[in-house]
Amino acid sequence: MNSHNPTDTDSASTRPMSVADIRESYAEYADRMHRLEWIDRVVMGRYRQARFGDVDGRVLDVACGTGTNFRYLPETVDLVGIDISPEMLANAADQLTELPIDGTLREMDAQQLEFDDDSFDAVISALSTCTFPDPVAALQEMDRVCKPEGTIRLVEHGRSDVRPIAKYQEWRAEAHYARNGCRWTQEPREVVSEAGLEVRETTTGLFGTITTFEIRPTRSDGQW
Ligand SMILES: C[S@@+](CC[C@H](N)C(=O)[O-])C[C@H]1O[C@@H](n2cnc3c(N)ncnc32)[C@H](O)[C@@H]1O
Repeated sequence: MNSHNPTDTDSASTRPMSVADIRESYAEYADRMHRLEWIDRVVMGRYRQARFGDVDGRVLDVACGTGTNFRYLPETVDLVGIDISPEMLANAADQLTELPIDGTLREMDAQQLEFDDDSFDAVISALSTCTFPDPVAALQEMDRVCKPEGTIRLVEHGRSDVRPIAKYQEWRAEAHYARNGCRWTQEPREVVSEAGLEVRETTTGLFGTITTFEIRPTRSDGQW
């Protein structure tokens, strides 16, 4: 399994928090994130809808948090959500009861998924790789558990392509990481490429801060 190599432009990851640190920090944010989800719907809803709105079959939401993605999934999916934080998962459970979707939730580390190879028709994840101590390992795990004919979908954030916004992000990156365990200026495309994954389609939005991906599982061998 590869390890993510921090770069100069990714300085927050030179002092990576452990999985336990991250779990602790999200225990603190879980209820607030759930309460403020309406803001996410306004800002991020269109990106989540566009990337996740057409998945089907058995779907894994990696680092599902408070379940923000769930409302964008078709009602027919058989959903499994995993997250390292029990507090985030408690809010995700509330979310599930309010939606007409069948789902189960499990506490699990995204870097060591407890599923067999080729277990899911679709693996989705949003705003997550920035918090994983080893995002490359987590992406390779997503690839492993996805069926060869399946699909991996990501909605990630990173450095803006608008210079003043990027400057601000760089200025605040260390403080943001210390407070939220989130590498604000991580380049999602670099991490996906480092994981050896093949991007089938990608989009950017919100001044370049949001990047979405449709990824072909590495074992697909022309089955798409
Ligand atoms: C910014 S939140 C995003 C949550 C959700 N995906 C969303 O889009 O709203 C990041 C989530 O990643 C989870 N997380 C961080 N490290 C993890 C790990 N190693 N394994 C599983 N979940 C992890 C956190 O607990 C948190 O719920």
